[in-house]
Amino acid sequence: MKRACVIGWPVEHSRSPAIHRYWLKLYGIDGAYEKEAVRPEELASFLGSLGKRGYAGANVTLPHKEEALRLASIADEAARAIGAANTLWLDGAGRLHASNSDAYGFMTNLNQEAPHWNDGRRPVMVLGAGGAARAIVYGLIAQGASRVLLANRTRDRAEALAGAFALAVGVIDWEGRNQSLTGCGLLVNATSLGMTGKEPLDIDLGVLPPDAVVADIVYSPHETPLLAAARTRGRQPVDGLGMLLYQAVPGFERWFGVRPEVTAELRTHVAATLGVP
Ligand code: ATR
Repeated sequence: MKRACVIGWPVEHSRSPAIHRYWLKLYGIDGAYEKEAVRPEELASFLGSLGKRGYAGANVTLPHKEEALRLASIADEAARAIGAANTLWLDGAGRLHASNSDAYGFMTNLNQEAPHWNDGRRPVMVLGAGGAARAIVYGLIAQGASRVLLANRTRDRAEALAGAFALAVGVIDWEGRNQSLTGCGLLVNATSLGMTGKEPLDIDLGVLPPDAVVADIVYSPHETPLLAAARTRGRQPVDGLGMLLYQAVPGFERWFGVRPEVTAELRTHVAATLGVP
């Protein structure tokens, strides 16, 4: 039996088991996907004994993503550029490999739902400067965004993120986000604003061109206030659930040997678990 897990602290909230167990059943694979609550001080020893514990690999969630990258023997380009790992696997020689599928997940979903997001001329705006924002900026530039405007409540963090991507990213003030949004082809919320229990993102979508796209990484609630506002104003919303589902694809293929499909049925299945603690 092949086994994988998600490692976090806490890990209870993770939706990864719902996704991977759905696919294991769908494809009739003799496998298991577990939740592993691992304290930060125990991460190194846990990863050092991953194979002994019977795991082919793992997903990594907060707060372990940066440390997991440091602990891996081999990291791919995405993980290095993003500075964090969310997908790990052991090779035949027992070496730990690290990758980051967040950019892949975000971009695959965006290309699927709104293939017109980049007309090659208009800037895109990303809000936030945490790990998710970094993955998204990396993905957008890798896929041809010529100009990214980045705003974060704490400007220093945006400056630090922009510094890693040279000239393609311009930092703007958090207070100046409405003004700078005029003429953008895509807005991405990579902050935690709009999440259940948090205040909504305050932004004026009216200045966006009519064919602009509004994407949110927040997936709980499934339709955030930002996505609802986009829909009401006739701008295309792209939800955070899609990113969550697509980021799971590379790990599943790596551990279980089948490239799984993101279907409407999977979306419905995982959406039904949202809002459930
Ligand atoms: P992750 O790594 O998952 O992206 P994070 O590092 O906690 O998580 O980032 C959360 C993002 O939401 C940050 O950009 C944060 O802004 P700060 O860097 O200023 O903390 C943003 N954020 C959270 N609460 C916010 C609020 N009330 N107003 C504006 N931005 C907020």
